[in-house]
Amino acid sequence: MLTEIENLEAQALAALAAAAGREEVESVRTRYLGRQGVVTDRLRSLGSLPPDARPAAGQALNRIKNAIQEAAQSRRVALSRAAEDAELEEGRIDVTLPGRGQRAGGLHPVTRTLERIETFFRRLGFDIVEGPEIEDDFHNFEALNFPAHHPARAMHDTFFFDDGLLLRTHTSNMQIRVMAVQPPPLRVIAIGRVYRCDSDLTHTPMFQQIEGLVVDEQANFANLKGILASFCRHIFESDLDIRFRPSYFPFTEPSAEVDIQCVICKGAGCRVCGQTGWLEILGSGMVHPNVLANVGIDSERYTGFAFGMGAERITMLRYGVDDLRLFMENDLPFLRQFSGGG
Ligand code: PHE
Repeated sequence: MLTEIENLEAQALAALAAAAGREEVESVRTRYLGRQGVVTDRLRSLGSLPPDARPAAGQALNRIKNAIQEAAQSRRVALSRAAEDAELEEGRIDVTLPGRGQRAGGLHPVTRTLERIETFFRRLGFDIVEGPEIEDDFHNFEALNFPAHHPARAMHDTFFFDDGLLLRTHTSNMQIRVMAVQPPPLRVIAIGRVYRCDSDLTHTPMFQQIEGLVVDEQANFANLKGILASFCRHIFESDLDIRFRPSYFPFTEPSAEVDIQCVICKGAGCRVCGQTGWLEILGSGMVHPNVLANVGIDSERYTGFAFGMGAERITMLRYGVDDLRLFMENDLPFLRQFSGGG
């Protein structure tokens, strides 16, 4: 009788140990201790045993009842701890993995170039000015010594509005705007967008220009040359040769275009420089006395020089980019190449 009870206990404990989930624990428990359970049954039928066998059997049955109860409870705890551990293991964080991180944004290459140019001229004592992109004929042409019907106007591919206003075709309008309100001596840089009705591989209808203007009692061509030579060396970070080539602008006299030694072939001749070894980068000259007169500056006392260049073109040459459209396409892999240094 007692061995049988011990066997029952062993079976129940083995079944509990093998139970793979809480429901299984519960069904084993019910099988032994439930209302119809084996152990319950035995307890109920104690009375049918001979009286002297009852106490021992009763004790043994109560003992295994408790043992099964406890085993079921500890199995339940073990199972839920295991489930918790598995869950933790699954969502485990490997703190040694490199973080996904946030990519820092970068400046657009043209902005970078503009900032570099601005810094250079600030150090030389230039003030930075800005002015309107919607301009009138007077500031964009007339006061800059482009009389009506002057052929040089046609070269500007101007966008006109109906009311006689236009989109400025160059930042030279700022020469007039600054001189009209500020007495000499003055040294300014104007940076901003300009517009021309022109679009192909090397031209976009909108681009950015940088304009420089110096008016002083002693401003001369040697100053202009010196400033532009050190400007080119600073921007292109190399000892490139530069040359001044006679040119024509209505608002400067004499006028010169400035070429730098080709940044790609260093002067040997290549596709970029059309085999000439030189790249044109800016227009310049001494401010025309008519322009000074137009803004009421005495050209007997003061002289001035001015220069103007395209920011996108300088950026292309500085970084060796050969397609202007890349600057407008917002192509992130392209732009990210510039988000590092310099
Ligand atoms: N405004 C001229 C252009 O857009 C450049 C220039 C500026 C030339 C200043 C001389 C002096 O082509």
